[in-house]
Amino acid sequence: METEGDALEELLKIETEIEDVQDQIKFLLERQEKLHERQSELKFLLEAYKASGTGNSANENASRSSSLEDWSGSFEWDSQADDVRLNIFGIPSYRQNQKEIINAIMSGRDVLVIMAAGGGKSLCYQLPAILRDGVALVISPLLSLIQDQVMGLTALGIPAYMLTSTTSKENEKFIYKALEKGEGELKILYVTPEKISKSKRFMSKLEKCHNAGRLSLISIDEAHCCSQWGHDFRPDYKSLSILKTQFSNVPVVALTATATQKVQYDVMEMLRIPKCVKFVSTVNRPNLFYTVRSKSSIGKVVVDEIAEFIQESYPNSESGIVYCFSRKECEQVAAELRERGIAADYYHADMDVNAREKVHMRWSKNKLQVIVGTVAFGMGINKPDVRFVIHHSLSKSMETYYQESGRAGRDGLPSECVLFYRPADVPRQVVFLFISPLTMLISIAFQHTILQK
Ligand SMILES: Nc1ncnc2c1ncn2[C@@H]1O[C@H](COP(=O)(O)OP(=O)(O)OP(=O)(O)O)[C@@H](O)[C@H]1O
Ligand SMILES: [Mg+2]
Repeated sequence: METEGDALEELLKIETEIEDVQDQIKFLLERQEKLHERQSELKFLLEAYKASGTGNSANENASRSSSLEDWSGSFEWDSQADDVRLNIFGIPSYRQNQKEIINAIMSGRDVLVIMAAGGGKSLCYQLPAILRDGVALVISPLLSLIQDQVMGLTALGIPAYMLTSTTSKENEKFIYKALEKGEGELKILYVTPEKISKSKRFMSKLEKCHNAGRLSLISIDEAHCCSQWGHDFRPDYKSLSILKTQFSNVPVVALTATATQKVQYDVMEMLRIPKCVKFVSTVNRPNLFYTVRSKSSIGKVVVDEIAEFIQESYPNSESGIVYCFSRKECEQVAAELRERGIAADYYHADMDVNAREKVHMRWSKNKLQVIVGTVAFGMGINKPDVRFVIHHSLSKSMETYYQESGRAGRDGLPSECVLFYRPADVPRQVVFLFISPLTMLISIAFQHTILQK
């Protein structure tokens, strides 16, 4: 018969073995990640060898194309481009890399653009879309982003349309006719990646448009969604590889605000653009001022401090965002800010789409000063005059923090990003492995005594 001592002994043994297995799993997962990383680098290199037909490495190709080709020089479309920039977009001068990117696209090259949030990526493909004959196809991950862009372009008098679940039958008919027969004025067409992966009808019309020589360029916005290593991986982005395969002579431009080297390789491989010209603009946003503040362990004190900061620094209801860790926290913080006289509401993935949209709209129209959101309130926020982004809790990763805080100051005016930090928040993040760079940033911040309180 088994005694208590035996049971205890066996339990201890099992627990030791479980720990051992967990160590092995951790080791294997790390090894798997490294292998995936190397696999994607090697695949990219092989693709580049194949495409170039020479023994040169992809990096050599990339640097050669960037260094030997002068994209800032004079081109035949210069004066026409200046005219469209000024008289259609109302933009007096180019920002860093915009002219060069436009020139590369106009020359028919595939392009990878890495430019900070709010840096002006849209102009880089919208301007060539107007200059080149035919229809430009733009793939964008979110309906709200697409609606914003189409609305903005329409207001400028540019014939831009979207083909999504919200498109009227009448517009759908117009779009298909324009693609198939070249009838009607259509310059820029926005779709979500699902259209490419799921709609045979759409793909067949697109093919007809291409066969008639009327597909002018393909733009893939938020291109980091292609990569499993990125922070917003979207499986449907995988199917976009078909575009370069099927329309090999049409320039593809992939744009993103954040992409590590690994994500860049992945994007180039997935989109089959190994010989693309890469433009990396500075990720530094000089108009954003970052502060880390120590966070009290008492919830009410934290909200008091946030409310005080908002009321003192932004007494004229200037717009802001407060990011929280959980849905429950969002609702609570929003309610507590309201109690303190701030027009705030919450936004998270558990709400139904209409309620979420309503909150977003009220905030966009300055009827609400603060949105308290989870990470779900991220991509697609186009509001230019967000004056502050406060992190009530840590972000999941450095990249996520860059994206979230980067929603501030898209109009180029000074804006503040404040992170409330306490060590106890770190383990709350599920993706613990990815938190280390952020923790590093915070410890650096500590060392430099950025802490105010
Ligand atoms: N050369 C320029 N001069 C002045 N304003 C510009 C210029 N280029 C773009 N803008 C403006 O900058 C703002 C941000 O541009 P855009 O939406 O293209 O940013 P983005 O790089 O796509 O950012 P995100 O990564 O957040 O999507 C827009 O209001 C746009 O009109
Ligand atoms: Mg954009």
